[in-house]
This record gives sequence, structure tokens and C-alpha cells, in this order.
Amino acid sequence: NLTSHSSTKFSTVKEPSGSYEDEEDDDIIEFNPAFTYQIFGENEQIFGYKDLVVNLEFASGSLASCFSMGYQDKKPMADKIYPVMKDFLPPAIEQTQKQSLNGNSLAPDIIDNPDVFSQIVERDNTEFKPMGTKIGEYRLDSGSSEDSVFEYYQAKFDTPRFLEYHKRLQCFAIFFIDGASVIEDTDEKWEIRLVFEKVNNGGQAVYHFVGYCNMYPYFFYPDQIRMRISQFLILPPYQQQGHGGRLYQSLYSDFGSRPEIREMTVEDPNEEFSDMRDKNDMKHLTNAGVFKDVQAPIKAETIAKVAKEYKLTKRQVARCFELALLKNLD
Ligand code: ACO
Repeated sequence: NLTSHSSTKFSTVKEPSGSYEDEEDDDIIEFNPAFTYQIFGENEQIFGYKDLVVNLEFASGSLASCFSMGYQDKKPMADKIYPVMKDFLPPAIEQTQKQSLNGNSLAPDIIDNPDVFSQIVERDNTEFKPMGTKIGEYRLDSGSSEDSVFEYYQAKFDTPRFLEYHKRLQCFAIFFIDGASVIEDTDEKWEIRLVFEKVNNGGQAVYHFVGYCNMYPYFFYPDQIRMRISQFLILPPYQQQGHGGRLYQSLYSDFGSRPEIREMTVEDPNEEFSDMRDKNDMKHLTNAGVFKDVQAPIKAETIAKVAKEYKLTKRQVARCFELALLKNLD
């Protein structure tokens, strides 16, 4: 009864394609989920199918998605798939079908008809615009085309169109961040920073979702805020190109200019995130001259002073000093 060769595949679709089987199509980027245990159990297995493939396609801008699955054979008692997954996916089309495909609102969320999905991808290319306030942009130093620029947007749950959009992107947290849970979108204190790639397509700006991070302001005694990064994600096709580092760095200047923020912390950072955080904090503090003439032992007051000035935790600053001392040993 064990499923053979089963796979759950994600793809972001930039252009509607006549043939979704064309593996050479650059406009369809496939990637696999990192985690499915929250949905399919600890062993991450689906029983009762032969050669099962579960596909979740996302329009690369609006993140409207299309669910489909295929298999060679199925046992009568095979596991249910969509009914189990649907709790983790954006609301199904039935709940949103009142929205018109021609209207200005987002397209229906989950679509089970590839032709309708193709229309949405096509429509996105002309109509989808990021939500929130644009707070900056950058180009990659290498490897990206002249016509491509990356933009940051800041949003909260009361930002127009954002709540709907957030319901779509939250499923990525479940599939790509170990131990993530869906955040409470009725709490208006959350701040979300989004990154989009803007591509100039013959004079038309087309947007593709790159990643996001969300942050929650906690109280810092007596009258300030500790901003805690909760989820931080760059979609797999955009990883290892510097976007995570850029997104993280963008927080320095933002938090630096907000006197109410005392400190930036991170909830359960994993190894990849900690690595990225260390490298960027080291670069930031080195460029600011913090480690000039650094010598052991480092006084507790020095760590506290640097932490306060750069709005980092004392623990993280101590770690960076340690790294700086080790670097000097080399
Ligand atoms: N070409 C090649 N490599 C590059 C380039 C480039 N142009 N630019 C940067 N890199 C390298 C960096 O040097 C770094 O490599 P190193 O670790 O060997 O030094 C590596 O790429 C990663 O740096 P970025 O590209 O800036 O980071 P990325 O965009 O891949 O984001 C992140 C890192 C956020 C961890 C991402 O991989 C991700 O989203 N993973 C899945 C979800 C996840 O684990 N999120 C964090 C969970 S913890 C939390 O949410 C609080």
C-alpha cells in the first residue's frame, strides 16, 4: 500500500504556458516543499497511491494557486489528500468565487481548473501590484537582468488587500520553515515586510513574489519595543543570491530610525538564518568600526553599549565580538 515515487511539487508560474509538461519552460519554476509533517504526519508519507504527484502551482505575483494531483493507481482505502491539505492552503475557490476575474480584487485563491489558472497568470502580468508602502529597492550585483529590480514593501493587516494576500503566502511558512504555525491575522500589531522582483516587460511592470519576514512588537521595559522577527523566508528559486541578507539589512536602517524600537530579536532562528544573521551583523558592525583594535577581554559595558546603539541583543553582540576576536587570531 505504500506510495511509490510520490512527490509534492510547488511551482511559481510567471507566464501562462500552452504545455505545462514542457520542462524547459523558464516561466515555470519548480521546487519541493522542505516540510510536510504538519500535514501528512511525522513520516511525511501518503499511503495508497502508485506514482502519486501532488502539484501546487502559484501565480508568481498574486500567489493565486492551482491544486492538482495525478497517480497511476489508487487503493480503495488510500489517504485523502486535498481534504487534509486544504486547512493549510488559502481558502478554496468556493468561498471566494464571488470575486470577479475581471474585477480589481485578487483572483480566487485555489483554482482547480488549469484554463482559469492560465487566465489568472496572464491577468497578473498586467494587473497585480504589491500592497503596502514601498520602502526601498535594490538590484543584485550580478546575475540579474538589467530589467529586473527588487523592491521592499511594508504592510500590516489593515493595509488594503494585504489580509487576503497574507492568507496565500502563509502556507509557504508551513512548507518551508520548520515548526512554523500560521500567525494570528486579527492582531494588527504584526508588521510584514515583502520583497518583490519587478520586471520590465515591454514597458509593463510585472511583479513576482520573492519572500517576506514578519515581526511582532513586544514590550521592552519601561517604554520601548523589542521587535521580534517571527518568520523569515525567501522562496527557494531566489535563495542563495543575497536576497535574505538584503532583507535582513533593510531592518537595520528602519529600526535605527524608529526611537521606540530598542532591540531586534529573532524567534527560534535555525542554522541557516543564524548564519545569515551572523554574517550580516558582522559586516554591519565592522563597517561601523566597532571592532577596530578589538582585544580580549571585552567588557560587559562595551557589549551593552554596542547592543543599545545598534539595537541588537547583548547575546548577539557578544557573539559578534567573539567572532571578531577569532578572526583576529587568524
Ligand atoms: N551568488 C551565490 N551565493 C550568494 C550570492 C550570490 N549572488 N549572494 C549571497 N550568496 C550566499 C551568501 O554568501 C550565503 O552563503 P554562505 O552561507 O555560504 O555564506 C548564502 O548565499 C545565503 O545568503 P543569502 O542569499 O543572503 O540568503 P537567502 O536569500 O538564501 O536567505 C534564508 C536565507 C532566509 C535562510 C533562506 O534560505 C530561506 O528562506 N530558507 C527557508 C526558510 C528558513 O529556513 N527560514 C528561516 C527560518 S528561522 C526564522 O524564520 C526566524
